Amino acid sequence: MAITKDIDLVAQELMQEEIVIIPTETVYGLAANFNSEKAINKIFELKQRPKTNPLIVHVSNMNQVDGLVKSFPEKAKLLVEKFWPGPLTLVLEKKDEVLDIVTANQETVAVRMPNHELTLSLIEKTGIPIVAPSANPFTKISPTKVKHVITAYPNNCPLILDGGDCSHGMESTILGFEAEEVILYRFGALSISKIEAVVGKISLKNNNNEKLVTSGMHKKHYSPKTRLLVTNQLEEELLRHGNKEIGLLTFKFTSMASKVKKHIVLSEDGSYELAMKNFYNALHELDKCELDIIVAEQFPNENLGKVINDRLDRAAADFN
Ligand code: TXA
Ligand code: MG
Repeated sequence: MAITKDIDLVAQELMQEEIVIIPTETVYGLAANFNSEKAINKIFELKQRPKTNPLIVHVSNMNQVDGLVKSFPEKAKLLVEKFWPGPLTLVLEKKDEVLDIVTANQETVAVRMPNHELTLSLIEKTGIPIVAPSANPFTKISPTKVKHVITAYPNNCPLILDGGDCSHGMESTILGFEAEEVILYRFGALSISKIEAVVGKISLKNNNNEKLVTSGMHKKHYSPKTRLLVTNQLEEELLRHGNKEIGLLTFKFTSMASKVKKHIVLSEDGSYELAMKNFYNALHELDKCELDIIVAEQFPNENLGKVINDRLDRAAADFN
């Protein structure tokens, strides 16, 4: 297992068509050189991700974007000016140069400029964009710390670029553009209200759409091994499972904590930002505790609370 802060070393690996782990402000990514089909194949293999799931291309400057996309809608420009580098991914019409394995044969490519100094320098160093999904094995909990990545791949972990804990701790928000409309493909760290303040009302892609547009729409995703139950009736749920070893996940402090084996409060200051930052780590921590069940309190369905509810629902999808 090799962990480094040396960008040159990581750049070398990328140029030699190896995969590496990179930090971003959202979650850790599993990265390959944009031009290397061989390395990109290794991403799918290690993650056990179906090839029908396209990947995000990470750039460090706007010239690189020009090399990837055919057109750039006016609203996309406004969003980029305001939010890049940052937790926003745009799905745009792709140029022919973009490998089919990156886009899962779709006519569009997902692009984002991450807001992490080390990764931006890394991309500048190689001069080539980086293709990277989140570094978690398919359907499992996303990594927001180096130790999460190591636990996920104890025997075959690629070189890790250590950039500390992810500051947002939640994947980027994904938007697409259809006709004049801006469409939300995945809830993420950038809130809808901030986006709408720039481009006006956006629409939500119907989750039951036959064509699966993003893997963030997979019902089961981000899941712990331990059974997870999401509720808005905490007291009753804890009573119902009173004979079990319970792990409890709540937004704020609660008097209910005395009834359970382990309790994690997501937000000591009551802010959604802090809850989001702590969210995946809390799931990783509870999942380590050999509990019978994790009971998670549903968030208020507003602002970034919606994002956490989205991840909770998907994480609990197979346990219901
Ligand atoms: O914050 C993030 O976005 C992190 C960090 C590492 O940048 N990356 C990430 O990648 O979450 P991943 O692969 O776990 O999720 C990317 C999502 C998937 O749901 C994928 O289906 C969708 O982006 N996607 C990629 N290309 C697409 C395209 N051309 N059209 C629609 N969705 C696309
Ligand atoms: Mg992912």
